[in-house]
Amino acid sequence: MVWARVVRRWRRNMDVSGDPEYAANLATLSEASVRRHFNPYTDIDWERPDFSVRKNDPRWVLSTTDLLGQHPWYRAQPLEKQIEIGLWRQANTAKISLQLESILIRGLVHYTFWVPNGSPEFRYCTHESIEECHHTMMFQELVNRIGMDVPGMPRWLRWISPVIPLYAGPLPGTFFFGVMAGELPIHIMQKSMLRQDNPPHPMMEKVMAIHVAEESRHISFADQFLARRVPNMVRRSRFALSLYVPIVMRVLCQAIVVPPRSFFREFDVPRSVRKELFFDAPDARQVLRDMYGDVRMLCADVGLMNPVAVMLWRICKINGQPSRYRGEPQRAHRPSPASAA
Ligand SMILES: [Fe+2]
Ligand SMILES: [Fe+2]
Repeated sequence: MVWARVVRRWRRNMDVSGDPEYAANLATLSEASVRRHFNPYTDIDWERPDFSVRKNDPRWVLSTTDLLGQHPWYRAQPLEKQIEIGLWRQANTAKISLQLESILIRGLVHYTFWVPNGSPEFRYCTHESIEECHHTMMFQELVNRIGMDVPGMPRWLRWISPVIPLYAGPLPGTFFFGVMAGELPIHIMQKSMLRQDNPPHPMMEKVMAIHVAEESRHISFADQFLARRVPNMVRRSRFALSLYVPIVMRVLCQAIVVPPRSFFREFDVPRSVRKELFFDAPDARQVLRDMYGDVRMLCADVGLMNPVAVMLWRICKINGQPSRYRGEPQRAHRPSPASAA
């Protein structure tokens, strides 16, 4: 019976008792979650005087680490408009983050429902979902305090979002690649904002520092989970996954990096600027490519880089060199002198 074989394989893959190295790594991650974790209402003093949001505060101007922030059209706008766009963009990115986290929490709970007794995955995934619950509160508080009524992700993604966590149980490989597609761009954008010369607004800085610290753990788990699971998949499923990965990376990255259409209407951004900004400019393409160096490395390691998949990575315009090690800094996030001018 094919169905019984599929269920047996699914159960076997969830049993990690024969993999002490993986179990030890998860124990380390879980202990790190106990040692270092944050609560948005005890670790952040939201009433700090320097956290107040003023509409004439130039620290809300987008930095040159942001694709929109480095575009000549944005740089040519009056300061008030640059601040208003900066507030909107930063609030919207926070809103997208919490929406993605909400999907992730639901998927993790769905997945842990099925893991066998004694599995270290149960504990780690539950730690991660608790941390993500705290992040959603932290980002929503940030959006509320910025005071912009932003929509977050594009409407189509909001509409299909209830379905996405459902496949975390039967198809965890597919789900965790989706998690990486969502977490990596935000993690990279926040790290480059924290490293820039002009510090962001202190409230943003505090929120991002907390988020970056915990997110590294989450990405590390997704990476280890996939490195263990994917090589055990049957060849047909692995091939299907190899085609899915570049598509989900491209689609989610675009949903995160490119603001929704309402943004362009509200701020009168010319159509040509929109197109050039996110799709045609060599800088923008390079940013897209650089976001996924770690995923290309993982895909190469677990056998997801067959000729058809490589072609799809190229068609999706996110092909390039794989990272040599996880977290290798990417060059596109250092603004060039020309774009910073
Ligand atoms: Fe998060
Ligand atoms: Fe996360």
